[in-house]
Amino acid sequence: MKSKALITLLSDGAVHSGESLATALGVSRTAVWKQIRRAMEEGFRIETIRGRGYQLLSTVDLLDRDDILAELAPETRTGLSLRVLDEVDSTNAEVVRQIANGVDGVPVTIADCQTAGRGRRGRAWSSPRGQNLYLSMGLTFHGGFAVLDGLSLVLGVAVANALEGLGAEGIGLKWPNDIFLPQGKLGGILVELQGELQEGVVQVIAGIGINVHMADAKEVDQPWSSLGGFYPGQSWSRNRIAAAIINAVQDSVRIFAEYGFQEFRAPWQQRDIFAGRSLQARDGTVNGMGCGIDEGGNYLVRTESGTVAVRAGEISLRVSP
Ligand code: BTN
Repeated sequence: MKSKALITLLSDGAVHSGESLATALGVSRTAVWKQIRRAMEEGFRIETIRGRGYQLLSTVDLLDRDDILAELAPETRTGLSLRVLDEVDSTNAEVVRQIANGVDGVPVTIADCQTAGRGRRGRAWSSPRGQNLYLSMGLTFHGGFAVLDGLSLVLGVAVANALEGLGAEGIGLKWPNDIFLPQGKLGGILVELQGELQEGVVQVIAGIGINVHMADAKEVDQPWSSLGGFYPGQSWSRNRIAAAIINAVQDSVRIFAEYGFQEFRAPWQQRDIFAGRSLQARDGTVNGMGCGIDEGGNYLVRTESGTVAVRAGEISLRVSP
């Protein structure tokens, strides 16, 4: 974002004279006016008050690498390679590039906007500037692909824990790993695997998108929600949310690597939005009642002829019409 310094000055919501802004920025008043126009082109709502100056009307929640680092647990901060970008194609793609370039430590990329945000099943992920959180982490596992069973559900539990810790009560999980509020989808997790780098060493890219301030998204074709929209009384900071998620993912991955998926089965089931609902799976060939997950993270549907385990990635589940 080119107008970051200006927006930081205006972010208190007070009226600032052109002269005081020019002094603070070390530029002329004409240059201030040009910056104001550019910020408005970037989507900020700024009012010009005749004879007094400029006032920012938009909610501003700027990403700040130092603020994120300050909120991380010391054991998480150590060994993290955190990049906070103004714009990127996809934070997942950026983490792949970080790894290819031999990044030192656990790569984490956060961006203010994505120009080619990716969702599951080849869908696009709406990624407007300044509104939401777009975060990806590179996670390394030992023991081959078999140790990853249930990982995407583990990440869902980690994100839910992080958001609840910040006051977002009642986060739901939609199998396998969508983050839900009663109004609709709040966020999603895209898990992408890289080949075995060495014998048994597997690299996972975990991409997490959370709707934070988004108030309008015509291109999203399903009911959605945002933290700001559902909990309007609370002030949501993307830096704090990012730090809480990084802390929670690192903690959860440590527990998962040591004890396996069993530690996450109950916390996942407590948030299961399909439990007790009438479901269809496998293109309507499986019909029954949602009844949680098995020890491998597969979703269980109780049908008239017995319980069927639906595998992650095999098919999407839907509530029966
Ligand atoms: C889904 O379809 O539910 C998964 C959405 C994942 C979106 C996030 S935003 C950060 C990361 N970068 C991407 O391109 N996608 C993921």
